[in-house]
Amino acid sequence: MLTPLVVMNPSNFKVWMQDHANRIEAWLDARIQLNPSVPGRLHEAMRYSALGGGKRMRPLLAYAAGAVTEAKTEDLDSVAGAVELIHAYSLVHDDMPCMDDDVLRRGRATCHVEFGEATALLVGDSLQTLAFELLAKTPMAISPSKQLGMVLLLAEASGAEGMAGGQAIDLASVNVNLDIAMLENMHLRKTGALIRAAILLGARCGCDDSPEIQAVLDRFARAAGLAFQVIDDVLDTEADTATLGKTAGKDQAANKPTYVSLLGLDAARSLSLSLHTQAREALVPLGARAHRLAELADFIVDRHH
Ligand code: IPE
Ligand code: IPE
Ligand code: MG
Ligand code: MG
Ligand code: MG
Repeated sequence: MLTPLVVMNPSNFKVWMQDHANRIEAWLDARIQLNPSVPGRLHEAMRYSALGGGKRMRPLLAYAAGAVTEAKTEDLDSVAGAVELIHAYSLVHDDMPCMDDDVLRRGRATCHVEFGEATALLVGDSLQTLAFELLAKTPMAISPSKQLGMVLLLAEASGAEGMAGGQAIDLASVNVNLDIAMLENMHLRKTGALIRAAILLGARCGCDDSPEIQAVLDRFARAAGLAFQVIDDVLDTEADTATLGKTAGKDQAANKPTYVSLLGLDAARSLSLSLHTQAREALVPLGARAHRLAELADFIVDRHH
């Protein structure tokens, strides 16, 4: 039985989520404004891909982790926005014909369907570099050397050792029987790495980001990030296209190894619950200041899309 961190108030959590989703939407909107030196069609496609949709889970995790270390909200905007830009880029490329070949994302045509493949490729390039540009240039309350360390952390999480490497494993695994350790490695990288970055970067914006707190958050991030992708696999099987806003059943159709294909639906669901317990237990040493992270862990396994 877990020690309750706080008395939960679901309606308060919903309001917090919506407020912070709106906040990051406005932050991104203000930073992808029409600029005469950016070709109009590329600019339009960047806005199409980054704005007006998505659960904004990684920004929410960054804000919630920042609450643990009493970070300034303006600093959190920069890390939340940078991670979300990397995520948006990863989705544009993930949907392209050379990867998952998907036509629907966030309830709309995918970027390459709407704008063509070459533009989608460049949208990914541009959103990715914009993430690093903004994280590097936005003045923050923390020291410049800490800010440089954040750029490094985001680069490691995004690249061949992190998300991009996980995506490479995913693509090489079509029609392949992975064992559970290989599947876990793939999921921890393709999805877990950016979720971990959001959480650790959020915490690093604050004053109390001791190695002990980082270690606690790292344990939380591992379990929450893995749970997120296990549920993504479950929803691909269980949910319908209208609810998901992306084509349901794609993993099976493409013969991708997932937690569902390896374990079956029931065992994949119960794995997500044990990861949820691990995530919640990891937070106990942080007490009440981790209550938003705890609520987000609940949301990750309870969500319907
Ligand atoms: C989908 O991510 C891709 C994965 C990494 C599993 P999300 O489920 O966070 O997608 P949005 O941002 O809400 O659309
Ligand atoms: C995508 O995983 C992970 C990244 C984009 C890095 P999926 O391919 O399972 O994501 P969906 O299901 O298309 O959103
Ligand atoms: Mg994919
Ligand atoms: Mg995909
Ligand atoms: Mg998926």
